[in-house]
Amino acid sequence: RKFNVAIVGATGAVGEELCRVLKDYNFPINKLVPLASARSAGSKVEFDGKEVTVLELTPTCFEENEVEIAFFSAGGSISAEYAKYAVDAGAVVIDNTSHFRMDPKTPLVVPEVNPEDISLWKETGIIANPNCSTIQMVLALKPLDELYGIKRVDVSTYQAVSGAGKTGMEELVRQMQDLLSFKLDESEKKAFAHQIVNNVIPQIDVQQPNDFTKEEMKMVLETQKILHKEIAVAATCVRVPVLRSHSESITVTFEEGTSVDVAEVRDALERFENVEVIDDLANNAYPMPIISTDTDITYVGRIRKDVYADNIVHFFNVADQVRVGAATNAVRIGLKWIEMESDI
Ligand code: A2P
Repeated sequence: RKFNVAIVGATGAVGEELCRVLKDYNFPINKLVPLASARSAGSKVEFDGKEVTVLELTPTCFEENEVEIAFFSAGGSISAEYAKYAVDAGAVVIDNTSHFRMDPKTPLVVPEVNPEDISLWKETGIIANPNCSTIQMVLALKPLDELYGIKRVDVSTYQAVSGAGKTGMEELVRQMQDLLSFKLDESEKKAFAHQIVNNVIPQIDVQQPNDFTKEEMKMVLETQKILHKEIAVAATCVRVPVLRSHSESITVTFEEGTSVDVAEVRDALERFENVEVIDDLANNAYPMPIISTDTDITYVGRIRKDVYADNIVHFFNVADQVRVGAATNAVRIGLKWIEMESDI
């Protein structure tokens, strides 16, 4: 059986990737319904080698197009306003924004990690897709938690500009050009508070009462919700001048009394679905954004035991956050939902 599938925000960075990933995964689509604002209604998106006309997102568009599965990636306020119309029209909503993630009734899912939570979708009709930085981190944490039991995680991220959508990418490219033509002073700053070319910015999203940023607290709260465990997490989220793929430097503290065996850690990571280990420092081999970009794999490397504590391991991971961290995770949720819940 095939489904009528809507993409809300089809003209955005994640929306365009969703079109590609749906095709790559042979998602069973009867009709694709690309939706965006009135600004881009009438324009075309490419799907499966054909052009499909973008329609305006309206309260009635889901019902009119008999939408059964709706991917939302047009920002939190759009999900807040329009997800209910999709649900009322009988669709399951797979939401890429942060809007519903911490709602206790809404499942927050990484299909390789907590697929069973998908069955809770009926309560609200919505399944939330976690934050990009959380997804690639929990993909590496899950097998390690099963191996030894995780107590605490300390993470610093190196996040690509595409996390800020198309405007983020355009801003970096423009500043690269302006830097080379000595016009950087006049360069427009829209997506980021500071110049991003030739710089790193230790702030993503707004300050919270505890002085962490919202992005950092997403990594804390979402990790705990997905792993169903009160793991202590401290994150420092940093924007770097990379176009695509987030990197993370991660330190994991296991339960007291654990003695980390790096070979066991490597083996557990290697065996986990959609995770690959690249870890050969002597030959300069480790995960980097240029390796993960345009792939659906989370790469892990630089695995090493702490010099002082037996129960601590350090590693580095990278993933294409537009795919693994957004579009691919959403499509994998959709496929799992079809398998588990759609009564085909
Ligand atoms: P549009 O192209 O019509 O503005 P990105 O994350 O790359 O910035 O993309 C955001 C996506 O969300 C785009 O597809 C954009 O469509 C869509 N979007 C933004 N605001 C609205 C809105 N008010 N109604 C519907 N879609 C919106």
